[in-house]
Amino acid sequence: MSVYAEREFPFTDTDFDCIRTLVNQHTGIVLSDAKRDLVYGRLTKRLRQLRLNSFQAYCQVLQTGDPRELEQLVNAITTNLTMFFREAHHFDVLATTLLPALRDSATRPRRLRIWSAGCSTGEEPYSIAMVCQAVLPDAEGWDVKILATDIDSQVLATAQRGVYSAERVQGLSPAHLQRWFSKGQGANIGMVRVVPALQELITFRQLNLIRSWPMRGPFDIIFCRNVVIYFDKATQHHLFDRFADLLDPHGYLFVGHSESLFQITDRFELLGKTIYRRCR
Ligand SMILES: C[S@@+](CC[C@H](N)C(=O)[O-])C[C@H]1O[C@@H](n2cnc3c(N)ncnc32)[C@H](O)[C@@H]1O
Repeated sequence: MSVYAEREFPFTDTDFDCIRTLVNQHTGIVLSDAKRDLVYGRLTKRLRQLRLNSFQAYCQVLQTGDPRELEQLVNAITTNLTMFFREAHHFDVLATTLLPALRDSATRPRRLRIWSAGCSTGEEPYSIAMVCQAVLPDAEGWDVKILATDIDSQVLATAQRGVYSAERVQGLSPAHLQRWFSKGQGANIGMVRVVPALQELITFRQLNLIRSWPMRGPFDIIFCRNVVIYFDKATQHHLFDRFADLLDPHGYLFVGHSESLFQITDRFELLGKTIYRRCR
């Protein structure tokens, strides 16, 4: 049994196993041996807040099953890296191909449903909303709704607020900045806020992808990017199957740059780089 004795808190193999088992059962996230230092680093603040002196004591707290403590654990362990228009080609395809095709279809109702699954701090659903507003303006009478969900309550609160530091929007064009953000004044200098026209399109909800979902769908498009990379293959298979069930028969699924459905499910066909269409 190895103990990281020189550290502030003893952290044994048993402690690590206890934490990764709980995390996996609750979120689907697999924490390999290589993530041990990351787990230690992400949780030390919580141990200090709880005035505990070892990970063993922390595991005892977790094992009482207190849902608030489990929520703190999940919030600390999830990786929430995101940015506006991350993987820009997805938004180009949305703006130049998928939405115009939907817009110009004479047979479809003027209704669009998009799900950003694993939305983190909100940059992804707001980017989707910017494209929708640009391609399907209100005046054309479109009923557009974007559902944005995440398991992490802390990032969701940030997403819902829609307030970001100016550095987070540095890469956006001046036209985007002017149209979609208002600049903070006084105490809020250095911050920007997304305009209400974007927020009105989005409903934010806490949702665990590996539990049951309250929505019935169908969705036209699901974004689930840089989320399943943390899950094992069986969990990915099950999740993609459920996405297919909830999509329109010809709906689209966008995944992250290092994710693939190859040898995981045959319910989608590959259309382009990390863009899939439901085929069965
Ligand atoms: C790296 S972020 C990706 C954000 C965004 N989709 C993007 O690509 O920029 C992954 C997000 O997935 C969320 N997540 C992880 N496991 C989840 C689960 N079981 N249910 C819902 N969300 C989960 C995390 O909280 C995190 O915010």
